[in-house]
Amino acid sequence: RVGLMLPYTGTFAQLGVAIENGFRLAINEQGGKLGGREIEFFKVDDESEPSKGIENANKLVQRDKVDVIVGTVHSGVQMGIHKVARDSGVLSLIPNAGVHAATRAQCAPNVFRTSFSNSQPTRALGAAMMAKGHKKAVWITWKYAAGDEAFEGFKESYTAAGGTIVKELGLPFPNVEFQALLTEIAALKPDAVACFFAGGGAAKFMKDYAAAGLQGKIPLYGSGFLTEGVLDAAGPAANGVMTTLHYSDSLDTPRNKEFRLNYAKTFKLQPDVYAVQGYDTGLLLIQGMNAVKGDVTKKVELYKAMESATINSPRGKWTMSKSHNPVQDIYLRVVENKENKVLGVAAKA
Ligand code: PHB
Repeated sequence: RVGLMLPYTGTFAQLGVAIENGFRLAINEQGGKLGGREIEFFKVDDESEPSKGIENANKLVQRDKVDVIVGTVHSGVQMGIHKVARDSGVLSLIPNAGVHAATRAQCAPNVFRTSFSNSQPTRALGAAMMAKGHKKAVWITWKYAAGDEAFEGFKESYTAAGGTIVKELGLPFPNVEFQALLTEIAALKPDAVACFFAGGGAAKFMKDYAAAGLQGKIPLYGSGFLTEGVLDAAGPAANGVMTTLHYSDSLDTPRNKEFRLNYAKTFKLQPDVYAVQGYDTGLLLIQGMNAVKGDVTKKVELYKAMESATINSPRGKWTMSKSHNPVQDIYLRVVENKENKVLGVAAKA
C-alpha cells in the first residue's frame, strides 16, 4: 500500500504531478510490482499547506494503512509527514522537500530522501558566481525553511569565495508580488542577484525580472529549481539564467537520454528534476522491496538495502549518506532555447 502525499493544487501542483509520473515510470519499467507484489495506491493533495501536514499524513497512515508514504515537495508540509513517520514508524520517502532537520538533527532509520537538502545546490553557487567576477550580490527568496536554508548554502559558499551579500530580500510563500523588491534591486545595483523560487512563482519571478528591465543588466542566478518545469511558461525571460542543481536536461549519458525518451513518450511531457527525483524514489523502493521480496515487516533488511543502495539515476549515480540524504554531484547550468544546458560539475559528491 503506497501513499502519495503531494501537491496537486497551488504553485507546486506541476511538481507533484512530475514526481508521481517519475515514480510510476520507474515501477512500470520493472513490471509494475514491488518485490513481486501488486501495488495499491492512495493519494492525498497536500496543497503545500503546512498547517494540514500532520492531518493529511495521518489520513494515509491511519485511514488507508499505507506501508510507505512518498511525499512531499514543501519543506513545511514535510515536517508534518516527518512527525507522523517518526511516531508511527511508517517508511517515509522524501522525493523533494529539502528541509534540513529530516536528514540532520531529526534523521530517522525509516526516513530516506532521494532529492537534496536545501543548502546543497546553493553551496555550489557562490564559487561559480565569483568565478564570473560578481563580487556583490543581493539574495531574494520566499521566507520559509526552503528559502532560508538555501540561503545558508549560498552565504557560506559566496562569502568563503570572497563575495559580499549587500542585501537579503524576502516575501512570504507563495506570494508573487515582486514589484517593490525588484525596484529595490534596481536601486541597489549589485553585480548579480541570487535566489530561491520554484514552480509557478519561479516563472513569474523571471518574467517580472525581465519586465523590470533587469535581465541582461544584473545577471540572475539561483538554485536550479528556478528554471525547472517552467521554461515554457517563462519564455525568453529565462534565457541566460545560471543555476546550480543535481540534474540537467542536457546531461549527455545513455541513462539520461533513455529516461527522457521514455518519460516523454509515456506522459507527452518533458521531464525535469522533479520527475527525476520521483523516478529515483521508485528505483530506491524497488531495490528495498526486492531485498525483502515485498515483505515490508522485515524492516532491518529493508532499511539496510536502501541505505547501501547505489541509484543508477538519470542525474548520474548516487548513494545515501549515513543520515539518508543523497551524495551527488551538483551541476552548473545555463538556460538556452528552453533547455537547462549543463556547463560542468560545480561541486563533486
Ligand atoms: C521545499 O519546500 O523544500 C522546496 C520546494 C520546491 C523546490 C525545492 C524545495 O523546488
